[in-house]
Amino acid sequence: MKKVYIHPLPVRIWHWINALGFLGMIGTGVQIRYLDLVQLIPFRTAVVLHNYIGFVLMANFFLWLGFYLFTDKITVYLPEMNPKKYFEDSWRQIKFYGYGIFLGEENPHHPTIYHKFNPLQIMMYQIIMLLMVPITFISGLLLWDIKRFSSLIELFGGVRVVDTVHVLMFVVFCGFLLMHLYLITLGHTRLAHIKAMLTGYEELHERDRR
Ligand code: HEM
Repeated sequence: MKKVYIHPLPVRIWHWINALGFLGMIGTGVQIRYLDLVQLIPFRTAVVLHNYIGFVLMANFFLWLGFYLFTDKITVYLPEMNPKKYFEDSWRQIKFYGYGIFLGEENPHHPTIYHKFNPLQIMMYQIIMLLMVPITFISGLLLWDIKRFSSLIELFGGVRVVDTVHVLMFVVFCGFLLMHLYLITLGHTRLAHIKAMLTGYEELHERDRR
């Protein structure tokens, strides 16, 4: 067994605040949107909590972005630039997740601090962090103060459009969370990747199924 340091402290702090915050946003968001179906906390409390957690998450996002922009760890998010190798590596990973994992095959990707993600993780995390998260933050910010941002809201097509986009992002994040939670259980034990996100160290075994 080998121990590899792959999650630096700022990433771990960002990640757990982010994970708790998103769960809070989903919970309070459901309460706000489906008031007639769910009555767990008062509507006003849900709105206030949703706003506060939202601002914490936006500030926290810059911890993640700043860490990667201003350190050499940015390499973990840089995709392979050789198209042939990129598609070969991606296909190998798809085959692994598709059936290799069920045959007990070894994971083709071996993480290091500078290359901790396989090509599919790079793509997925980039889409989430650089597209879905910003769209959620911007649409949420506009809805937070409709009057102040009225001209911007009109530019995007009106409150209905901005609200629909925000709710669609809720659906995207629920889907992402289901997939994320499944994939993170594929370490050499069910909790291995979660332990790594807490301690920073990933334990690599011969037949590590990451
Ligand atoms: C209870 C909820 C969550 C748990 C238990 C969890 C767990 C984990 C674990 C164990 C990892 C490391 C595995 C890996 O490197 O692929 C990870 C990475 C990551 N997670 Fe989560 N996660 C949760 C929620 C979220 C949410 C809500 C988001 C985004 C909105 C998110 C975004 C990410 C990203 C971007 C990474 C890669 C971080 C980096 O190293 O730059 N996670 N998560």
